[in-house]
Amino acid sequence: MPVISFANAKGGAGKTTAALLLATELAQQGYRVGILDADPQRWITQWHELSGPQHNIEVISEVTVASLQGHIRELARTADYTIIDLAGARDAIVTTAIGLSDHVMIPVQGCAMDARGGAQILDLIKLMEETGKLKIDHSVVLTRVTSMVTTRALLTIKGLLAARGVNVINTPIAERTAYREIFDCGGTLYTMDPARISNLDKARENARALACEVMQLLPVRIVRTQQPRRLFKVVRSAA
Ligand SMILES: Nc1ncnc2c1ncn2[C@@H]1O[C@H](COP(=O)(O)OP(=O)(O)OP(=O)(O)O)[C@@H](O)[C@H]1O
Ligand SMILES: [Mg+2]
Repeated sequence: MPVISFANAKGGAGKTTAALLLATELAQQGYRVGILDADPQRWITQWHELSGPQHNIEVISEVTVASLQGHIRELARTADYTIIDLAGARDAIVTTAIGLSDHVMIPVQGCAMDARGGAQILDLIKLMEETGKLKIDHSVVLTRVTSMVTTRALLTIKGLLAARGVNVINTPIAERTAYREIFDCGGTLYTMDPARISNLDKARENARALACEVMQLLPVRIVRTQQPRRLFKVVRSAA
């Protein structure tokens, strides 16, 4: 079960939006997704309370440094992907989550080109890799990209990051009304009314492309039979 965390030391970079888009899209594709809400602001939890139970999605709230690893272990039994939403900080829980992740996504706003918060996470990952002698896979995902941001400007950002050896997700997350509405109305891009939300089709297409890339990066084979689950229980009770 891949664990993917969303980190950027700067607030408002688009972490929660990107995390929720990926989680809901993976759930839509049939994967069971666990979301660990490790932000004290509880945005994902509030979205979940507003939305009610969502097919294939489990949200765990009030995650702490002490409880993080236990939650991941628990979700390994029930989820195909675990997604961690972190606060805009560079603190103990961010560091712990990064250390426990299979991939760290660093959302950086394409329009503002303000990559400082992202750079802090890149530096933290580098430090952890050097001191802990581990490899922490990570990628920058450009967010809130508008039509004002030209392909050339995006290529420039990608080039700069590539020069630092940083992978950039090919699919930038566009600035879309639908992505704000999810938090106001609850539900997913698939429960919204296309007549009410502009460019909902494009928003869905964008989320699908993002999830596709993540699925290629971190593939999971869906096992849907009841048998392994029963076998697992027998093994546990016999132990
Ligand atoms: N792609 C997008 N399109 C439209 N609005 C967006 C997009 N991404 C983020 N926003 C809006 O920008 C604001 C900040 O986004 P978000 O909460 O995802 O950032 P964050 O990095 O999680 O912030 P924090 O550090 O406070 O947790 C929110 O109001 C959100 O609705
Ligand atoms: Mg957030």
